[in-house]
Amino acid sequence: MVTIKHSRPGVVLAASLAALFLLVVLGCSWIDVTTYYQQGAVATGAPIATDLAIEVLKKGGNAFDAAVATGFVLAVVHPSAGNIGGGGFAVIRNGADGRVRTLDFRETAPLAAVETMYLNDDGEVIDSLSLYGARACGVPGTVAGLHALWQEYGSMKWEELVKIAANVADTGFIVDDFLAASLTEYHRELTLYEETADIFVPNGQKSVAGDRFLQLDLARTLYAIAAEGPDGFYSGEVAEKIVATMQKYNGLITAEDLASYLPVWREPTHITFDGYDIYSMPLPSSGGVIVAQILKLLEPYDFARLFPESVDYIHLFCEASRLAFADRSEHLGDPAFYAAPSTLLDAGYLDARRKLIDPQHATPSTRVKPGSPPIRESEQTTHYSICDDDGNMVAITYTLNTGYGSSLVVGGAGFLLNNEMDDFSIKPGVPNVFGLIGGEANKIEPGKRMLSSMSPTLVLKDDKPRMILGTPGGSKIITVVAQTLLNSIRFDMSAEALCAQPRFHHQWLPDMLYLEEGQFDINIIQGLIRYGHSVKERKPYSDLQVIELDENGMMTATSDPRNRGKASGY
Ligand code: DON
Repeated sequence: MVTIKHSRPGVVLAASLAALFLLVVLGCSWIDVTTYYQQGAVATGAPIATDLAIEVLKKGGNAFDAAVATGFVLAVVHPSAGNIGGGGFAVIRNGADGRVRTLDFRETAPLAAVETMYLNDDGEVIDSLSLYGARACGVPGTVAGLHALWQEYGSMKWEELVKIAANVADTGFIVDDFLAASLTEYHRELTLYEETADIFVPNGQKSVAGDRFLQLDLARTLYAIAAEGPDGFYSGEVAEKIVATMQKYNGLITAEDLASYLPVWREPTHITFDGYDIYSMPLPSSGGVIVAQILKLLEPYDFARLFPESVDYIHLFCEASRLAFADRSEHLGDPAFYAAPSTLLDAGYLDARRKLIDPQHATPSTRVKPGSPPIRESEQTTHYSICDDDGNMVAITYTLNTGYGSSLVVGGAGFLLNNEMDDFSIKPGVPNVFGLIGGEANKIEPGKRMLSSMSPTLVLKDDKPRMILGTPGGSKIITVVAQTLLNSIRFDMSAEALCAQPRFHHQWLPDMLYLEEGQFDINIIQGLIRYGHSVKERKPYSDLQVIELDENGMMTATSDPRNRGKASGY
């Protein structure tokens, strides 16, 4: 006779749970929890911005309308990086004609800037001068850039799009944990200038989660931009306030600098990789060409036996990155001032550079020099990705440079100015805040645009939209974008996995391989050390925003789990 023991229901329950656990953990590929969107998708670093962008799309706006609105909304709800006092880049595809173009709305050096403006009489760098206050600011480009994008491709009224942000500034929004923590982290910077403290730490009280955050001066500025377009920023009352703030704090930006600012449409940097077309930002961003060099250096390697966290893959990636960043230091700057070699992506040049990669030994960076391409005759930024069902794609990365930029708010106008001047090489060989060095190509000159690493990127295959991506992270932008492209194309990861994937970084100098802490197995770390790498763990970084489209145009959108961003669609 079989006796049923009392423990049996527990066993059954345990077995069921174990089976369920195995199904989930061991990868039951038939359970697909991905959300697909058909009409439009958005991924930004701030939930309010994502929700408002989706509203624009639902109202009948196209991806460009949503991108313009998002640019202004982020200036209100994500003040450490979203901006009207900074600049950035857009890489876009126009669904109507399939053309991919880029828009450069990078800041420029004021006309009074000189090469030695951050050095003392002994030729030494004056501490922090390129990072805080009025001297650190480049002439802002964001308002002119968003307007140029709208003028060319927008379908809704400019006024309506800008007013979305103005209303949020005017009526306020509820501070979330992320913003509250950021205001605490940057307390010192936000109290350096009374104009900034008045907004972010009024009467010595910073906002905490749950407070309503009003920005009435910023609202007035945004209403002026809504009514007058770029004139509401680059001339008139707002411009006068910028110049007054410059004069008060010994800055260089004049009314003439503001009146003469122009964004520039440029052809994208384009490569094919494994049959995909990859379009990214050309100079004055180094992003496109350095991402492209890394990918093209790696393309001939067989990845079949590698996986994204294997010693051999990480090693190969770092060696390619080391070579590419060495070229960055020597050859790249604003193309209006310095002629970069046009052969940095030539197959012959890259074949020769690839020969310098030892598959099992790290080459010390002291032995890696920038290449000599043949002369041919003749840590806050934010990124957002948007697409619609007409084949329009927008990737925008824009920034104040470091968190809250120069820390200086324009008195009475309510917005922060950038500290982008630090992206110039302020003295040959002296690293900027991201540890990047440069020389002649990226020296300070009046009216010049400082070299960037921002890499908003589009991927197409057979002329069909496949991916929109980008991230903040200073120099690490380049390696995050390159790794994400490889993770997608070579390792077939979903958008969700792309965002969650552990990251590593090597930028030639310092000669150090950075790994996100706690993410890599000790055996992998030891393997990399055995190959000769100096390895350091560091806190998680970047804020990747990805939209993927399958061959039928179904969209998935994902925001980096490291931060508070939101991806959505409909
Ligand atoms: O243009 C650049 O490369 C830098 N100003 C970007 C700064 C940045 O990404 C900071 N974010 N964490």
